[in-house]
Amino acid sequence: MGKSKRLLISREAIARRVEELAAQISQDYRGQEVLLVGVLKGAFIFLADLVRAMDFPVEVDFVRLRSYGAGTQSSGAVEVTKDVEASLAGRPVLIVEDIVDVGLTLEFLRRHLLRKGPRSLKICCLIDKQERRQVDVPLDYVGFTVERGFLVGYGLDCGEKDRTLPEVYALVDEIGEASAAGSNG
Ligand code: IMP
Ligand code: MG
Repeated sequence: MGKSKRLLISREAIARRVEELAAQISQDYRGQEVLLVGVLKGAFIFLADLVRAMDFPVEVDFVRLRSYGAGTQSSGAVEVTKDVEASLAGRPVLIVEDIVDVGLTLEFLRRHLLRKGPRSLKICCLIDKQERRQVDVPLDYVGFTVERGFLVGYGLDCGEKDRTLPEVYALVDEIGEASAAGSNG
């Protein structure tokens, strides 16, 4: 069935919310050598906007994860395909993720990074998608909360498509139902 896109979050709404998150994060981490860890690929656009809206310079690093699952159902098996390169030991670390769905990917990453001995580890995600949540991952900064649907744009992809759109869209079937599909992070 053909899919169409329905605008869900405008550029203006994203920009406003990113400013708010950046202000809050700046306030919480002022004077600390915080390391922001972006989760590739999805978080690169959000992270880029976030760091430029912060009122002091921060160090950034990236991880890339691969999760295995049949179709839309995450199996919970996650692999690190690119690890962080900076040392996390004794530092405040903030994970920056695009979207949390089931929660298994982020929970895996949280445990993985905790083993590197950060002084603190918090999570900032652009979108908290709640319908399929299985793991109660602690989300410290959330841009938007969405009940369900498969979203694309502003870093989010559907099979590598639509990642670079400046707004967030929901994919809908021609009959108007929100649909589910695969993603490459
Ligand atoms: P989960 O929380 O373990 O289900 O994994 C979340 C990951 O799946 C995110 O980092 C995204 O890469 C991907 N994902 C989940 N929902 C969506 C969506 O609506 N659009 C695009 N990617 C998604
Ligand atoms: Mg991702």
